[in-house]
Amino acid sequence: MSDAKTIESVMDERRRFPPSKEFSESAHIKSKETYEEMYRGSIRDPVAFWEKWAKEIDWYTPWTKTFDWDPKEVRIEWFRGGKLNASHNCLDRHARSWRKNKAALIWQGEPENDVRTFTYQQLLAEVCKFANVLKSKGVKKGDRVAIYLPMIPELPIAMLACARIGAIHSIVFGGFSSESLKDRIADSGCKILITADGSYRGGKLVALKANGDIALAKEHYVENVVVVKRTGIPVEMKEGRDTWWHDEMETASTVCEPEVMDAEDPLFILYTSGSTGKPKGVLHTTGGYMLYVLLTFKWIFDYRDEDTFWCTADIGWITGHSYIVYGPLAAGATTVMFEGIPTYPQVDRYWRIVEKFKVNIFYTAPTAIRALMREGEKWPGSRDLSSIRLLGSVGEAINPEAWMWYYNVIGGGKCPIVDTWWQTETGGILITPLPGATVLKPGCATVPFFGIDPGILREDATEADINEGGYLVIKKPWPGIMRTVYGQHERFKDIYWTRFPGVYLTGDGARRDEDGDIWIVGRVDDVIKVSGHRIGAAEVESALVSHKDVAEAAVVPMPHPIKGEAIFAFVTLKAGVPEREELKKELIQHVRQQVGPIAAPEMIQFANALPKTRSGKIMRRILRRIATGNVEELGDTTTLADPSVVDKLVSSRKELVK
Ligand code: WTA
Repeated sequence: MSDAKTIESVMDERRRFPPSKEFSESAHIKSKETYEEMYRGSIRDPVAFWEKWAKEIDWYTPWTKTFDWDPKEVRIEWFRGGKLNASHNCLDRHARSWRKNKAALIWQGEPENDVRTFTYQQLLAEVCKFANVLKSKGVKKGDRVAIYLPMIPELPIAMLACARIGAIHSIVFGGFSSESLKDRIADSGCKILITADGSYRGGKLVALKANGDIALAKEHYVENVVVVKRTGIPVEMKEGRDTWWHDEMETASTVCEPEVMDAEDPLFILYTSGSTGKPKGVLHTTGGYMLYVLLTFKWIFDYRDEDTFWCTADIGWITGHSYIVYGPLAAGATTVMFEGIPTYPQVDRYWRIVEKFKVNIFYTAPTAIRALMREGEKWPGSRDLSSIRLLGSVGEAINPEAWMWYYNVIGGGKCPIVDTWWQTETGGILITPLPGATVLKPGCATVPFFGIDPGILREDATEADINEGGYLVIKKPWPGIMRTVYGQHERFKDIYWTRFPGVYLTGDGARRDEDGDIWIVGRVDDVIKVSGHRIGAAEVESALVSHKDVAEAAVVPMPHPIKGEAIFAFVTLKAGVPEREELKKELIQHVRQQVGPIAAPEMIQFANALPKTRSGKIMRRILRRIATGNVEELGDTTTLADPSVVDKLVSSRKELVK
């Protein structure tokens, strides 16, 4: 690893929280022994394990081979020959059961009185209608559909409608700019765009359709745009291309037979950032993904039919795909979806929603916990949170202080917290407590889920010792793993399967403690987690360099009390361009336009030159330390082409703090 120190563990957390007897007794997985026995079985014979549990999914035709893989070409197949449909599994089978009038989706809009509830049969009808709309626009099995929507019910309806007819959805988070939307639409050759006039964001309006129009101003394959009217802000409708969702739905039939899909047919593409400048289209397929999200949902969140489950993520990210939509609905659950933000109109918004819908299982991100913790206990204290019986955390490591607050103040000291580690690429949760079985440690993701065989490796591919940091890898494919980078299989192989041949490289560092529990230490590549959102340093750098005044840029993470990590940019201006504060603002604005508001640098430091090796490689290790303000320990700078560059950066960093 380029910077071995970054994964050296500094934590020394000794607190232990075993599950209560009452919780364990009624949990799906009731004890450590049960977990261990099932886990050992799942590793000894994964095929038998997954075959047994695959029966939780409805198959039209059973599979002929459970698992096959070619480690060299990295071709992964689960449930070969099996036929199913994801929307059938999420809707029809429940709508035909006693669950037909159970709430599938409870939607809370940003305005308090905007609430819509869909039972399983109502949701099915809406999905069928939109599936018919897609068909009427010529969308067929295998076509790509771009979805750029706020957190409104039309978003899961559009997703499931795609799944119903076998089209591949590619959802772009509403916080991305028109540039990012354009790149994603182009990369996967989307045929149609589903968007909205605008969205609500903390009392303000964001123009989505206008972004869509800019994205479609250049070359693309998009033939139709369907627009949901959400905010009423004026939009331009292009004749022959753009139509309103409500007009299309008015006449659409509520009957639409699901397409029979192969287990390995693609379900969706979701773009995510990595070490390179271009986001990659992570491709997930149908059978393995559906089974994996269903089982992880049921067992990790210990879901029971009477529970109300709320995951606060945005559906534009993998967490929303897997644990607002596909996992909960496949399990026949009631899933809550929220359009707004935690701090608007007041910082008790989450707690009001918990009280209003009597949420039993609450799944959020450490950045939100830290932001709400700062506001004090009076906010959650004045709401009734007694319905909560289980808490979850995702997106980044949760610091023990936030963990304790979450446990005591939100969970009343009685609810287990599942600290779930996973990635866009993994489809579902891989490392996590099982709440009825695992002894919790604040800040620790603990143990692998069934069928997951993790390793922590040194540079030379040997296993790290206890408490020694290393690269986190997964040694065998599991059903929910991504199958390829859309249209770029070689890139998939290079990024994930080459550093240690035959094993999946996660990009995270980790260590295993003396009990065998896994602690995630953070990314070891150039991915920055800003408020849990994954931002590629290279993407921000290329955005900065595309500005006319910038010669070179290097972007590294800096610690941030709420966001976890924030973006620190070192920028070298072109010769003759004067350094001025105004230009910093302009550069931040430029990144917002190029990538999106979520990628805006927190701090910019102008640099005459960047520290480079003699071969011209930027030494990020040094920049990371400077950004952190940790300038006493810069490590070895003798390999630099010009060590004096560092002194200048250090003194101007000190200036920046003043
Ligand atoms: C980080 C989000 C520590 C990690 C589901 C991973 C975590 C990246 C945790 C994936 C956790 C996620 N503890 N780190 N519980 N959960 N991460 O693709 O660095 O947006 O590689 O998927 O988030 O981010 P992504």
